[in-house]
Amino acid sequence: MSSSDRIASDALRAKITTGEEAAALIPSGATIGMSGFTGSGYPKVVPRALAHRIEAEHAAGNPFKVKVWTGASTGPELDGALAKADGIEFRFPYNSDPIVREKVNRGEMDYFDMHLSQVAPMVWEGFLGPLDTAVIEVAGIREDGSLIPSSSVGNNKTWIDCARQIILEVNSWQSPHLEGMHDIYYGTALPPNRVPIPLIRADDRIGEPYLRCDPDKVVAVVKTEAPDRNAPFAPPDQTARAIAGHLMEFFRHEVARGRLPQSLLPLQSGVGNIANAVLAGLVDGPFENLSAFTEVLQDGMLDLISSGRLRVASATAFSLSPDAAAQLNADMARYRDKIILRPQEMSNHPELIRRLGCLAMNGMIEADIFGNVNSTHIMGSRIQNGIGGSGDFARNAYVSIFLTPSIAKNGAISAIVPQASHVDHISQDVQVIVTEQGLADLRGLSPKQRAKVIIENCAHPEYRPMLQDYFERAKKGAYGLQSPSLPGEALSWHQRFMDTGTMHLG
Ligand code: COA
Repeated sequence: MSSSDRIASDALRAKITTGEEAAALIPSGATIGMSGFTGSGYPKVVPRALAHRIEAEHAAGNPFKVKVWTGASTGPELDGALAKADGIEFRFPYNSDPIVREKVNRGEMDYFDMHLSQVAPMVWEGFLGPLDTAVIEVAGIREDGSLIPSSSVGNNKTWIDCARQIILEVNSWQSPHLEGMHDIYYGTALPPNRVPIPLIRADDRIGEPYLRCDPDKVVAVVKTEAPDRNAPFAPPDQTARAIAGHLMEFFRHEVARGRLPQSLLPLQSGVGNIANAVLAGLVDGPFENLSAFTEVLQDGMLDLISSGRLRVASATAFSLSPDAAAQLNADMARYRDKIILRPQEMSNHPELIRRLGCLAMNGMIEADIFGNVNSTHIMGSRIQNGIGGSGDFARNAYVSIFLTPSIAKNGAISAIVPQASHVDHISQDVQVIVTEQGLADLRGLSPKQRAKVIIENCAHPEYRPMLQDYFERAKKGAYGLQSPSLPGEALSWHQRFMDTGTMHLG
């Protein structure tokens, strides 16, 4: 089906134009709300045309920058192109683009990530100022002007509702069978008028399959056939398989103790290779009739659906490898009644996560011996990606689990450190830590008890004695014995890495 066939509204077909002409409608200084979440459903034509325009303006000596809001990470045609053109003044929220990351870490771009469930409400509340333009990829436009969402929903509903003008990209690469997969809930309100959200199970559909859109606000419609970013996942290695194995053992134990049902509870699986590997572990595990209430659907989720073990998956976006995306697109009709894509303020809603009792499984950069977790900053100051939805899920989960290999950079870095160099998740939001070395169940433990089990179960053998030594000395020399630490030494591991390239002594 071509892009034109996907535009059933006469009024909006009359607005079909080129990426260049659409980009010309965006002035310097504008705040743009773009679609896109974890490399799916982002506009591919207009941002690149805007980047070319910005380069031309810069070459002519004219300053030109825009503020970019999205759902989460996008792709090289959006974040990459605009950052390369030096065209982004402020980027918000979650990013994983390497060019943006480099600019942010060089201090050339302002960036702020936040709990992804809170982005839309903050915009509705007016906390972030006005939104000038929405640039939204859709899979089609219906006769009445409503929109068939694409491979992510993210903040699209909010951008369309709040923007002064709207540019639509109709992408015929996206499967037409996406139609009917989405659940767009329009029942939200601001305090004091908020009401409970009527979602009781991950399977529930409480909204509409289409995005409402005022056709009068649409200033341009652009056609494309470009694929989503779809970066491949690393195949699970021995480390990832060991992490998944420890977690499966934990789930089996919890089921045996009667603390989890045999079908577990709705799964949330974060971004990254390790989280994907855990899903592969569930394919081979003993659990059936599973459900997922999560943010992104990776390859592992599709495999779980194909294996018959996963009954339903609710999310806001796909985050697939090229192979899995091709498989999904070829077989969309089979997956459609098992997948529900929602706006991110619903997929990540604290009320829903707490009610459903999600099992939150997220990657991390490092944890300290007390179980404070750093998900975002390398050596405390260099941004890697962002907090994404990990905080939405960790704080509200039934069990909040963080996963990482015990070492990074070929062993030069220990992921278990005396003190986290940056804290995204305080120890109260971290109940289980898993590395390939083992699993630390921290529920109900005091800080000293947590330190003992994290060091013994999760630290790498090359770093375990150093951590034990630090902890023993801290217990003797600390100012207080509730959370024994030596402030002058606690971050010395990071300083040593920055000075010598390794956290090892000598
Ligand atoms: N110190 C320094 N660098 C570290 C490190 C540590 N303790 N741990 C990992 N790294 C580096 C890796 O070496 C790698 O660097 P490279 O890109 O130069 O190779 C990079 O961080 C990514 O690590 P990787 O092992 O590939 O991890 P991953 O793909 O499993 O992702 C996170 C891990 C933490 C980056 C990722 O999970 C993330 O961004 N989390 C935050 C957002 C989130 O949780 N969202 C989910 C909500 S649904």
